[in-house]
Amino acid sequence: MTEPRRDVTGGRGPADSLEANELLEVRDLQVVYRRRRGLLGRGKDELRAVDGVTLSVREGEAVGLVGESGSGKSTVAQAVTRLVPVDSGSITLRGRPLSAASGKELRDLRRELQMVFQDPYSSLDPSMTIRSALREPLHVLGLKRSVDVERVLHTALDAVGLPTSSLDKFPHEFSGGQRQRIAIARALVPEPTMLILDEAVSALDVSTQAQVLSLLQDLRRERGLAYLFIGHDLAVVRRMSDRIAVMYLGRIVEEGPAERVVSHPAHPYTAALLAAVPDGRKDREHDRRKLIHRGANPDPWNRPVGCSFATRCPFAMDICFEQDPQTTGIRQGGTVDCHLQTSGATLAGEVLGDLVADHEHGGAEYAS
Ligand SMILES: Nc1ncnc2c1ncn2[C@@H]1O[C@H](COP(=O)(O)OP(=O)(O)O)[C@@H](O)[C@H]1O
Ligand SMILES: [Mg+2]
Repeated sequence: MTEPRRDVTGGRGPADSLEANELLEVRDLQVVYRRRRGLLGRGKDELRAVDGVTLSVREGEAVGLVGESGSGKSTVAQAVTRLVPVDSGSITLRGRPLSAASGKELRDLRRELQMVFQDPYSSLDPSMTIRSALREPLHVLGLKRSVDVERVLHTALDAVGLPTSSLDKFPHEFSGGQRQRIAIARALVPEPTMLILDEAVSALDVSTQAQVLSLLQDLRRERGLAYLFIGHDLAVVRRMSDRIAVMYLGRIVEEGPAERVVSHPAHPYTAALLAAVPDGRKDREHDRRKLIHRGANPDPWNRPVGCSFATRCPFAMDICFEQDPQTTGIRQGGTVDCHLQTSGATLAGEVLGDLVADHEHGGAEYAS
């Protein structure tokens, strides 16, 4: 067996990681939050919000990052966009390290990588017209002189299906879905190659969500954009992604082609996320409950020894509470970190396959 890697590019390794279509590459990223403990402020506590995450995105590729609240998804996004400091690991865009960039190089990299957040209420200043909001990235990136500003703004609004008359209005004059379109338009203004979408549709009602998702799909097709699409709902993330990485308590526990992850989940946590997606079948309620967690969520400041998911895992074995699982390749694509793959492959194959929704499958086979 070849050494398995966390590689959301489809199995290409470090040797050829500078291939022409390589865009974003995150290697062994660690982001630690610290707090003081004790009456005298002595002793420090650490929370490894991101604990050794490796993932990459090729040009034009959409990679989904899914996990429950608190798993570290936003911290990954913030590290990539330099909103939080990185403790260790590397982040490169087209092979250029983001951490070392400054001045013009940093502005160039920033131009390529734009972010859209969950909450259009807080990301759009209520006292600013839409024109001012959309011009902002041109100011920040120093592009004002080099482009026909009005034309760029019209093009961006047109791309998200809003009329140019929107420019002189204020955020409160728009619905939640329209505001999110404006946030997307603003991200498009510098003509990026990649968008990081952090829970970008999570605040919207289901039908508005569907419209914004199909807008994002159109934009990607028309402009060849790459996405890092972050969300907690696996059904939504699946719809947007070519590949999916599943995050739990600061680590990626499974990744692979979106179709494989959804139809043959290899990690019990992925299976639980899938089971949480409603499929309208009452007869599966019992199975679903079996997959969803008997134990408590571990305290992220006190990460348990062994697999972090063990306390909630219906298949946990002794070894799961004693040792970290190794990353193992999966024959149908991707990797998983789970002891079941080595000590209980049959159990994983049969039980996960049987319980998870009504996709036709029989659980993942483990490459060995
Ligand atoms: N500024 C911060 N200071 C301390 N802890 C933080 C901070 N931001 C996030 N966290 C913690 O880091 C962990 C990961 O958070 P986050 O990246 O926001 O996860 P997600 O986006 O998956 O919900 C959580 O336990 C959260 O409470
Ligand atoms: Mg988040």
